[in-house]
Amino acid sequence: MNTQTYPFVRRLPLLGANLGAASVFLGSAASAGQILSIGDMSSSYNRNIWWMSIAVIVMAIVIFIGVSYALFYTVNKFREDKHTAEPDQFHGNNRLEQLLIGVPVIIVTIITILAARTMAIVNPTPTDALHVNVTGAQFWWAFEYPGSPLQGTTGTVTNGNELVIPAGRQIAITVTAKDVIHAFWAPNLGGQRDAIPGSKKTFQIDTDRPGVYQGNCSLLCGASHANMRFKVVALPKAQYDTFIAAAQSYKAPAPTTASERNGYNIFMQGKASAGAAPCSSCHRVQGTPAAGAVGPDMSFFGSRNTLGAGIWEGKEREAHIQPWIKHCAAVKPGCEMPPYLSLSAQDLGDLEAYILSLKLPDAAAYWGKVPVR
Ligand code: CUA
Repeated sequence: MNTQTYPFVRRLPLLGANLGAASVFLGSAASAGQILSIGDMSSSYNRNIWWMSIAVIVMAIVIFIGVSYALFYTVNKFREDKHTAEPDQFHGNNRLEQLLIGVPVIIVTIITILAARTMAIVNPTPTDALHVNVTGAQFWWAFEYPGSPLQGTTGTVTNGNELVIPAGRQIAITVTAKDVIHAFWAPNLGGQRDAIPGSKKTFQIDTDRPGVYQGNCSLLCGASHANMRFKVVALPKAQYDTFIAAAQSYKAPAPTTASERNGYNIFMQGKASAGAAPCSSCHRVQGTPAAGAVGPDMSFFGSRNTLGAGIWEGKEREAHIQPWIKHCAAVKPGCEMPPYLSLSAQDLGDLEAYILSLKLPDAAAYWGKVPVR
Protein backbone atom coordinates (compact mmCIF):
# COMPACT_ATOMS: atom_id res chain seq x y z
CA MET A 1 0.00 0.00 0.00
CA ASN A 2 1.31 3.47 -0.71
CA THR A 3 0.38 6.98 0.26
CA GLN A 4 -1.71 7.46 -2.88
CA THR A 5 -4.37 5.41 -1.18
CA TYR A 6 -4.60 8.25 1.32
CA PRO A 7 -4.74 11.47 -0.66
CA PHE A 8 -4.47 13.57 2.47
CA VAL A 9 -1.32 12.05 3.83
CA ARG A 10 0.92 14.18 1.66
CA ARG A 11 -0.84 17.40 2.51
CA LEU A 12 -1.55 16.93 6.16
CA PRO A 13 1.87 16.42 7.72
CA LEU A 14 2.58 20.16 7.84
CA LEU A 15 -0.44 20.80 10.01
CA GLY A 16 -0.11 17.53 11.85
CA ALA A 17 3.58 17.97 12.43
CA ASN A 18 3.03 21.43 13.82
CA LEU A 19 0.33 20.27 16.20
CA GLY A 20 2.25 17.15 17.12
CA ALA A 21 5.51 19.02 17.51
CA ALA A 22 4.09 21.01 20.39
CA SER A 23 4.41 17.91 22.53
CA VAL A 24 6.76 15.63 20.69
CA PHE A 25 9.47 17.73 19.19
CA LEU A 26 12.21 15.43 18.08
CA GLY A 27 15.41 17.22 17.35
CA SER A 28 17.65 14.19 17.19
CA ALA A 29 19.07 12.52 14.15
CA ALA A 30 17.61 9.31 15.52
CA SER A 31 14.25 10.24 14.10
CA ALA A 32 15.46 12.04 10.98
CA GLY A 33 13.10 11.52 8.10
CA GLN A 34 10.18 10.46 10.25
CA ILE A 35 7.09 12.61 10.01
CA LEU A 36 5.07 12.76 13.19
CA SER A 37 1.54 13.58 12.19
CA ILE A 38 -1.84 13.38 13.85
CA GLY A 39 -3.14 13.90 10.30
CA ASP A 40 -1.78 10.55 9.14
CA MET A 41 -4.84 9.18 7.37
CA SER A 42 -3.58 5.60 7.36
CA SER A 43 -4.98 5.28 10.88
CA SER A 44 -8.74 4.88 11.24
CA TYR A 45 -8.46 6.49 14.66
CA ASN A 46 -6.86 9.58 13.10
CA ARG A 47 -9.36 9.59 10.23
CA ASN A 48 -12.32 9.72 12.61
CA ILE A 49 -10.79 12.51 14.67
CA TRP A 50 -9.76 14.36 11.51
CA TRP A 51 -13.18 14.42 9.89
CA MET A 52 -14.81 15.56 13.11
CA SER A 53 -12.24 18.36 13.37
CA ILE A 54 -12.91 19.37 9.76
CA ALA A 55 -16.66 19.51 10.42
CA VAL A 56 -16.17 21.74 13.46
CA ILE A 57 -13.61 23.95 11.70
CA VAL A 58 -15.95 24.41 8.70
CA MET A 59 -18.78 25.38 11.05
CA ALA A 60 -16.48 27.86 12.79
CA ILE A 61 -15.44 29.39 9.45
CA VAL A 62 -19.08 29.75 8.32
CA ILE A 63 -19.99 31.39 11.63
CA PHE A 64 -16.96 33.69 11.46
CA ILE A 65 -17.81 34.82 7.93
CA GLY A 66 -21.51 35.24 8.80
CA VAL A 67 -20.85 37.30 11.93
CA SER A 68 -18.16 39.40 10.19
CA TYR A 69 -20.49 40.06 7.27
CA ALA A 70 -23.34 41.08 9.57
CA LEU A 71 -21.00 43.35 11.51
CA PHE A 72 -19.56 45.16 8.49
CA TYR A 73 -22.96 45.36 6.79
CA THR A 74 -24.51 46.95 9.86
CA VAL A 75 -21.65 49.35 10.50
CA ASN A 76 -21.74 50.46 6.87
CA LYS A 77 -25.52 50.74 6.59
CA PHE A 78 -25.92 52.79 9.76
CA ARG A 79 -22.88 55.01 9.40
CA GLU A 80 -23.42 58.34 11.10
CA ASP A 81 -22.69 60.37 7.95
CA LYS A 82 -25.61 58.62 6.24
CA HIS A 83 -27.97 58.98 9.17
CA THR A 84 -27.84 62.21 11.01
CA ALA A 85 -31.23 61.57 12.61
CA GLU A 86 -31.36 59.61 15.88
CA PRO A 87 -31.84 55.89 15.15
CA ASP A 88 -34.99 53.95 16.12
CA GLN A 89 -35.01 53.10 19.81
CA PHE A 90 -36.33 49.69 20.82
CA HIS A 91 -35.92 47.06 23.51
CA GLY A 92 -37.42 43.74 24.43
CA ASN A 93 -37.38 42.28 20.89
CA ASN A 94 -38.47 38.72 21.73
CA ARG A 95 -37.83 37.26 18.31
CA LEU A 96 -34.28 38.62 18.23
CA GLU A 97 -33.51 37.32 21.71
CA GLN A 98 -34.92 33.88 20.91
CA LEU A 99 -32.80 33.80 17.79
CA LEU A 100 -29.64 34.81 19.66
CA ILE A 101 -30.18 32.05 22.22
CA GLY A 102 -31.54 29.41 19.85
CA VAL A 103 -28.82 29.53 17.19
CA PRO A 104 -25.86 29.02 19.60
CA VAL A 105 -27.76 26.21 21.36
CA ILE A 106 -28.24 24.46 18.00
CA ILE A 107 -24.55 24.93 17.11
CA VAL A 108 -23.33 23.56 20.46
CA THR A 109 -25.77 20.64 20.21
CA ILE A 110 -24.46 19.70 16.75
CA ILE A 111 -20.85 19.81 18.00
CA THR A 112 -21.78 17.72 21.05
CA ILE A 113 -23.44 15.09 18.86
CA LEU A 114 -20.43 15.01 16.52
CA ALA A 115 -18.03 14.61 19.46
CA ALA A 116 -20.13 11.91 21.15
CA ARG A 117 -20.45 10.04 17.86
CA THR A 118 -16.67 10.14 17.28
CA MET A 119 -15.98 8.99 20.84
CA ALA A 120 -18.44 6.14 20.41
CA ILE A 121 -16.53 5.06 17.29
CA VAL A 122 -12.94 5.33 18.53
CA ASN A 123 -13.25 4.41 22.21
CA PRO A 124 -14.77 0.93 22.54
CA THR A 125 -12.32 -1.96 22.25
CA PRO A 126 -13.30 -4.10 19.26
CA THR A 127 -13.68 -7.75 20.22
CA ASP A 128 -11.18 -8.83 17.56
CA ALA A 129 -8.50 -6.32 18.63
CA LEU A 130 -4.99 -7.56 19.32
CA HIS A 131 -4.12 -6.92 22.96
CA VAL A 132 -0.77 -5.54 24.04
CA ASN A 133 0.15 -4.51 27.58
CA VAL A 134 2.34 -1.43 27.72
CA THR A 135 4.28 -0.33 30.79
CA GLY A 136 6.13 2.97 30.97
CA ALA A 137 9.16 3.23 33.27
CA GLN A 138 11.99 5.69 33.77
CA PHE A 139 12.98 5.79 30.90
CA TRP A 140 11.85 2.99 28.63
CA TRP A 141 8.82 1.02 27.50
CA ALA A 142 7.90 -2.62 28.04
CA PHE A 143 5.58 -4.27 25.52
CA GLU A 144 3.95 -7.54 26.46
CA TYR A 145 1.80 -9.72 24.22
CA PRO A 146 -0.28 -11.86 26.51
CA GLY A 147 -0.86 -15.36 25.24
CA SER A 148 -4.54 -16.14 24.99
CA PRO A 149 -6.66 -18.67 23.12
CA LEU A 150 -8.73 -15.73 21.82
CA GLN A 151 -5.63 -14.31 20.17
CA GLY A 152 -4.58 -17.73 18.92
CA THR A 153 -1.40 -17.37 20.97
CA THR A 154 0.08 -19.36 23.78
CA GLY A 155 3.26 -17.94 25.27
CA THR A 156 3.71 -14.41 26.50
CA VAL A 157 6.12 -12.34 24.42
CA THR A 158 7.83 -9.26 25.77
CA ASN A 159 9.98 -6.69 24.02
CA GLY A 160 11.58 -3.43 25.01
CA ASN A 161 11.02 -0.11 23.21
CA GLU A 162 10.01 -1.69 19.91
CA LEU A 163 6.34 -2.50 19.46
CA VAL A 164 5.57 -4.87 16.61
CA ILE A 165 1.97 -4.87 15.38
CA PRO A 166 0.05 -6.18 12.39
CA ALA A 167 -1.16 -3.52 9.93
CA GLY A 168 -4.89 -3.43 9.22
CA ARG A 169 -5.98 -4.50 12.68
CA GLN A 170 -7.06 -2.59 15.77
CA ILE A 171 -4.51 -2.85 18.56
CA ALA A 172 -5.91 -2.60 22.08
CA ILE A 173 -3.19 -1.04 24.20
CA THR A 174 -3.56 -1.44 27.96
CA VAL A 175 -1.23 1.10 29.43
CA THR A 176 0.20 1.53 32.92
CA ALA A 177 3.43 2.75 34.52
CA LYS A 178 5.93 1.43 37.04
CA ASP A 179 7.21 4.54 38.74
CA VAL A 180 5.88 7.96 37.74
CA ILE A 181 3.27 9.14 35.25
CA HIS A 182 4.28 8.79 31.60
CA ALA A 183 2.21 9.03 28.44
CA PHE A 184 2.12 6.77 25.43
CA TRP A 185 1.81 8.54 22.09
CA ALA A 186 2.46 7.37 18.56
CA PRO A 187 0.78 10.31 16.75
CA ASN A 188 0.53 8.58 13.36
CA LEU A 189 -1.40 5.67 14.84
CA GLY A 190 -3.88 7.32 17.17
CA GLY A 191 -4.45 9.24 20.35
CA GLN A 192 -2.33 9.71 23.40
CA ARG A 193 -2.93 8.09 26.80
CA ASP A 194 -1.42 8.74 30.19
CA ALA A 195 0.45 5.83 31.73
CA ILE A 196 -0.31 6.01 35.44
CA PRO A 197 1.09 3.70 38.15
CA GLY A 198 -1.66 1.51 39.61
CA SER A 199 -4.08 2.30 36.80
CA LYS A 200 -4.76 0.37 33.62
CA LYS A 201 -6.39 2.03 30.66
CA THR A 202 -7.20 0.41 27.36
CA PHE A 203 -7.40 2.32 24.10
CA GLN A 204 -6.88 1.69 20.40
CA ILE A 205 -4.22 2.44 17.85
CA ASP A 206 -4.14 1.19 14.27
CA THR A 207 -2.74 1.74 10.81
CA ASP A 208 -3.59 0.34 7.38
CA ARG A 209 -0.12 1.07 6.10
CA PRO A 210 2.86 -1.11 7.02
CA GLY A 211 5.85 0.91 8.19
CA VAL A 212 8.01 2.00 11.10
CA TYR A 213 6.42 4.77 13.15
CA GLN A 214 7.84 6.95 15.89
CA GLY A 215 6.40 7.09 19.38
CA ASN A 216 7.27 9.12 22.44
CA CYS A 217 6.57 9.57 26.08
CA SER A 218 4.59 12.80 26.07
CA LEU A 219 4.39 13.75 29.74
CA LEU A 220 7.38 15.20 31.56
CA CYS A 221 8.63 12.31 33.70
CA GLY A 222 12.20 13.11 34.64
CA ALA A 223 15.69 13.72 33.33
CA SER A 224 15.36 11.53 30.25
CA HIS A 225 11.74 12.24 29.36
CA ALA A 226 12.91 13.29 25.89
CA ASN A 227 14.89 10.05 25.64
CA MET A 228 11.89 7.84 26.27
CA ARG A 229 10.94 6.94 22.76
CA PHE A 230 9.73 3.84 21.04
CA LYS A 231 9.18 2.49 17.57
CA VAL A 232 6.02 0.92 16.29
CA VAL A 233 6.77 -1.54 13.52
CA ALA A 234 3.55 -2.29 11.62
CA LEU A 235 4.02 -5.43 9.55
CA PRO A 236 1.76 -6.97 6.91
CA LYS A 237 -0.34 -9.64 8.59
CA ALA A 238 1.60 -12.62 7.26
CA GLN A 239 4.92 -11.16 8.44
CA TYR A 240 3.44 -10.32 11.81
CA ASP A 241 2.17 -13.87 12.20
CA THR A 242 5.66 -15.17 11.40
CA PHE A 243 7.16 -12.79 13.97
CA ILE A 244 4.77 -13.61 16.80
CA ALA A 245 4.96 -17.36 16.22
CA ALA A 246 8.78 -17.25 16.24
CA ALA A 247 8.81 -14.97 19.28
CA GLN A 248 6.51 -17.30 21.22
CA SER A 249 8.56 -20.39 20.56
CA TYR A 250 11.85 -18.48 20.76
CA LYS A 251 14.70 -19.93 22.75
CA ALA A 252 17.81 -17.79 22.89
CA PRO A 253 20.56 -19.36 20.77
CA ALA A 254 23.39 -20.88 22.81
CA PRO A 255 26.66 -18.92 22.69
CA THR A 256 28.89 -20.28 19.91
CA THR A 257 32.20 -18.42 20.18
CA ALA A 258 34.58 -18.05 23.14
CA SER A 259 33.67 -14.37 23.27
CA GLU A 260 29.93 -15.07 23.38
CA ARG A 261 30.47 -17.74 26.03
CA ASN A 262 32.33 -15.31 28.28
CA GLY A 263 29.60 -12.73 27.65
CA TYR A 264 26.95 -15.33 28.49
CA ASN A 265 28.68 -16.19 31.76
CA ILE A 266 28.94 -12.55 32.84
CA PHE A 267 25.32 -11.97 31.82
CA MET A 268 24.06 -14.93 33.84
CA GLN A 269 26.44 -14.96 36.81
CA GLY A 270 28.13 -11.58 36.85
CA LYS A 271 31.84 -11.30 37.46
CA ALA A 272 32.72 -11.45 41.15
CA SER A 273 36.38 -10.55 40.59
CA ALA A 274 35.26 -7.26 39.02
CA GLY A 275 32.39 -6.71 41.48
CA ALA A 276 29.88 -6.94 38.61
CA ALA A 277 26.37 -8.19 39.41
CA PRO A 278 24.70 -10.50 36.89
CA CYS A 279 22.68 -8.81 34.13
CA SER A 280 20.13 -11.60 34.53
CA SER A 281 18.89 -10.25 37.86
CA CYS A 282 17.28 -7.36 35.95
CA HIS A 283 16.90 -8.59 32.38
CA ARG A 284 15.05 -11.51 30.87
CA VAL A 285 16.31 -13.66 28.03
CA GLN A 286 13.68 -16.15 26.90
CA GLY A 287 14.93 -19.72 26.97
CA THR A 288 17.71 -19.03 29.50
CA PRO A 289 17.76 -18.76 33.31
CA ALA A 290 17.71 -14.97 32.96
CA ALA A 291 14.26 -13.89 34.16
CA GLY A 292 14.72 -10.36 35.55
CA ALA A 293 11.92 -7.89 34.94
CA VAL A 294 13.48 -4.67 36.24
CA GLY A 295 15.00 -3.63 32.91
CA PRO A 296 14.00 -4.19 29.29
CA ASP A 297 13.60 -7.73 27.99
CA MET A 298 16.75 -8.74 26.12
CA SER A 299 15.42 -11.91 24.47
CA PHE A 300 16.00 -10.74 20.90
CA PHE A 301 18.14 -7.71 21.47
CA GLY A 302 20.22 -8.65 18.43
CA SER A 303 17.14 -8.23 16.22
CA ARG A 304 16.43 -4.73 17.46
CA ASN A 305 17.60 -1.56 15.78
CA THR A 306 17.44 0.92 18.66
CA LEU A 307 19.26 1.44 21.95
CA GLY A 308 18.48 3.53 25.02
CA ALA A 309 14.74 3.75 24.25
CA GLY A 310 15.28 5.05 20.75
CA ILE A 311 18.20 7.43 21.33
CA TRP A 312 20.41 5.59 18.86
CA GLU A 313 19.58 3.59 15.77
CA GLY A 314 21.51 1.35 13.43
CA LYS A 315 25.26 2.05 13.33
CA GLU A 316 24.99 4.65 16.09
CA ARG A 317 23.38 2.02 18.22
CA GLU A 318 26.24 -0.41 17.74
CA ALA A 319 28.76 2.29 18.63
CA HIS A 320 26.97 2.94 21.93
CA ILE A 321 26.44 -0.60 23.25
CA GLN A 322 29.72 -0.81 25.17
CA PRO A 323 29.63 2.74 26.59
CA TRP A 324 26.04 1.94 27.57
CA ILE A 325 26.94 -1.20 29.50
CA LYS A 326 29.94 0.50 31.10
CA HIS A 327 28.07 3.54 32.42
CA CYS A 328 24.67 4.15 30.95
CA ALA A 329 23.90 7.19 33.12
CA ALA A 330 26.89 8.92 31.49
CA VAL A 331 25.25 8.65 28.06
CA LYS A 332 21.58 8.89 29.11
CA PRO A 333 20.60 11.13 32.05
CA GLY A 334 18.73 9.29 34.77
CA CYS A 335 19.44 5.80 33.42
CA GLU A 336 18.97 3.46 36.37
CA MET A 337 21.24 0.59 35.29
CA PRO A 338 24.25 0.53 37.63
CA PRO A 339 27.66 1.27 36.08
CA TYR A 340 30.06 -1.55 35.30
CA LEU A 341 33.22 0.53 35.35
CA SER A 342 35.40 -2.34 36.54
CA LEU A 343 34.65 -4.63 33.59
CA SER A 344 37.58 -4.86 31.18
CA ALA A 345 37.32 -3.81 27.53
CA GLN A 346 37.46 -7.52 26.70
CA ASP A 347 34.51 -8.28 29.00
CA LEU A 348 32.47 -5.40 27.58
CA GLY A 349 33.19 -6.64 24.05
CA ASP A 350 32.19 -10.17 25.04
CA LEU A 351 28.94 -8.98 26.61
CA GLU A 352 28.19 -7.03 23.45
CA ALA A 353 28.93 -10.09 21.33
CA TYR A 354 26.59 -12.19 23.45
CA ILE A 355 23.61 -9.83 23.46
CA LEU A 356 23.99 -9.18 19.73
CA SER A 357 23.83 -12.94 19.17
CA LEU A 358 20.31 -12.98 20.66
CA LYS A 359 18.41 -12.97 17.40
CA LEU A 360 15.11 -14.07 15.98
CA PRO A 361 15.30 -16.26 12.89
CA ASP A 362 15.80 -14.08 9.78
CA ALA A 363 12.27 -14.79 8.52
CA ALA A 364 10.82 -13.46 11.78
CA ALA A 365 13.08 -10.39 12.15
CA TYR A 366 10.99 -7.25 11.85
CA TRP A 367 13.50 -4.54 10.89
CA GLY A 368 14.22 -3.66 7.28
CA LYS A 369 11.02 -5.27 5.98
CA VAL A 370 8.83 -2.16 5.97
CA PRO A 371 9.78 1.46 5.17
CA VAL A 372 10.38 4.11 7.82
CA ARG A 373 7.45 6.55 7.78
CU1 CUA B 1 8.20 9.04 30.46
CU2 CUA B 1 8.10 11.33 29.81
